Amino acid sequence: SDQRRAAAELMAHRILLADDQQNDLTMRYLKLLTGQEKVRGGPARDVVVVGAGVAGMVCARLLLAAGHRVRVLEANRSRVGGRIKTFRGDVFQDGRHQAEAGAMRIPSSHVLTLTLGDTLGVPRRPFHLVDVPPSPDRTSGDSKVTYGSWNGEIFSTGTEPPYTAPSGLGTRLINVNGQVVSKADYAKNPGPVNKTFGWDSNQTTTAAFNDALAHARSYTQIRNPDGSWTDKPIGDRLTGMAQLLYDLDNYSLLQYLVDIAGWDTPQIQAVGTLENLTSRLSYGFLHSVFDATDINPSVTYFEFSDGTDALTTALAKGLPIEQDRAVIRVESSGGKVTVIAEPESGPEDEACNGEIGGSQFRYEADAVVLAMPYAALRHVQFAPLLPYGKRRAINELTHDTAHKVLIEFTERWWEWDEATWRDKLGSDYRTAPHGPAVPAVGGGCISDEADRFVYFPSHPSPGGAPGGVVLAAYNWSADALRYDSLTPQDRHREVLDHLVSLYGERIRRYATDRAVSQSWLRNRWALGEAVIETPGQLLSLGPHVAEPVGNALYFAGDQCQPRYHAWISGAIASGCEAALQVANGA
Ligand code: ARG
Repeated sequence: SDQRRAAAELMAHRILLADDQQNDLTMRYLKLLTGQEKVRGGPARDVVVVGAGVAGMVCARLLLAAGHRVRVLEANRSRVGGRIKTFRGDVFQDGRHQAEAGAMRIPSSHVLTLTLGDTLGVPRRPFHLVDVPPSPDRTSGDSKVTYGSWNGEIFSTGTEPPYTAPSGLGTRLINVNGQVVSKADYAKNPGPVNKTFGWDSNQTTTAAFNDALAHARSYTQIRNPDGSWTDKPIGDRLTGMAQLLYDLDNYSLLQYLVDIAGWDTPQIQAVGTLENLTSRLSYGFLHSVFDATDINPSVTYFEFSDGTDALTTALAKGLPIEQDRAVIRVESSGGKVTVIAEPESGPEDEACNGEIGGSQFRYEADAVVLAMPYAALRHVQFAPLLPYGKRRAINELTHDTAHKVLIEFTERWWEWDEATWRDKLGSDYRTAPHGPAVPAVGGGCISDEADRFVYFPSHPSPGGAPGGVVLAAYNWSADALRYDSLTPQDRHREVLDHLVSLYGERIRRYATDRAVSQSWLRNRWALGEAVIETPGQLLSLGPHVAEPVGNALYFAGDQCQPRYHAWISGAIASGCEAALQVANGA
């Protein structure tokens, strides 16, 4: 239909960050973030920003820099930052340890995030998705960001050659169907492991999934003889992306793999298990195309050295943020907006007649930026009602969940070789169950057991702490939901037992009694990990998600940036976009 065509065209522009003149919005946002440009516009406006996550704080900063009056309201009384959260201090036995509950890795192509961090002076360093040989800790020299636009313009913040990760060792383990092999051994000879799934193939699951995505990629890219992909010119990319959405937005990942890639069940189960797709088979397939682009062994990553929350701490500095203000109602009339918020405990005073009194807070403004999760908007009253399309988006958008379990150790045993183990254990020395230890930093394991994915830290903790914190289980969707149901004690025991089954009883003596979990679904202010559309939602709901209502209500948050849901970059882009809309909406 014409309506579907129009939605596909609009969403293609949003996904590629192109405006309707084919201007490059990534370039525009880079200039805003570095202060080379300001969000221009008419007279100064009074703006309330709801939500002190990355999206809200970026938006607030840009508006302040352009002379608008801004207040930021945050529901959480304990911290700002949203789904950026770094565990540190008293949650661990060694207070020097830090570990990420939320965002942890930044692909080098995510130039908005890297540029924002660099501009705020937040140090970063490599994050190793694949384990690498130990080397002196690398903390600097990675400050260059380069972005080449389709219009020929180049944004660059330095001259040194960009950092590229050393080639990976692949010593970390794959544990599926009762068999344990190293990632390197699997890459060399995938057949035996594939066979345990009943899948007769000598291809790695990474290569197989890449092949399956070729059909989708060919709408916007051209495949080179060496297998790499080159973007088509922007006009063709926009047309291609719109056609892809038009043709396939109703496809779940499962339907795509069956109908387009022609896969049978064993292959789906093998690739699903190793590539972390199983729990997302019912989601729209496009999300997994984007995820496979951002999360794969050939991507170079960074992390913020002082914890990802160093970014949100730096963003919050100097911003007028009021915490403990959960917005419950937004009233608009006569070109003014009133935002009503409550402290966490709710109105405290209850009179004898049952009437609720006490502390509600009212904020009058010309414009409000709702930079909170869509899941939380479901619990805000709007008077008058929001437009139909917006209400449907708020009611229906599918939120994924993620769960992380982090275990503290007193030593970084995962970096030791076998000789070190012999030294440390003396007469207690026993060999490891799955081959001698090889010194390696970072990387992680894959398992078909409940923990699913393990990540070892890429760097020592600050302050010379000898130990470290292992992300001993990171899982999504249905995998994460089941972890939510366990008690913290059972989760801790199960996750540690699993590490022991991979690395031997000998690691147990280094585990402290501390494990911390983060369920993003159970988080009262996040209400989920991120929006991941189910089939059809990109076209049916997508056009309404970020759309302002009149010139008073604006929306931001990673859910507003369909290419970068569940990434800091999506939050930043949406914050920039909302600031431009507010400034130009007077
Ligand atoms: N950006 C996050 C990560 O690096 C999440 C990615 C997508 N999340 C999801 N549920 N599919 O892991």
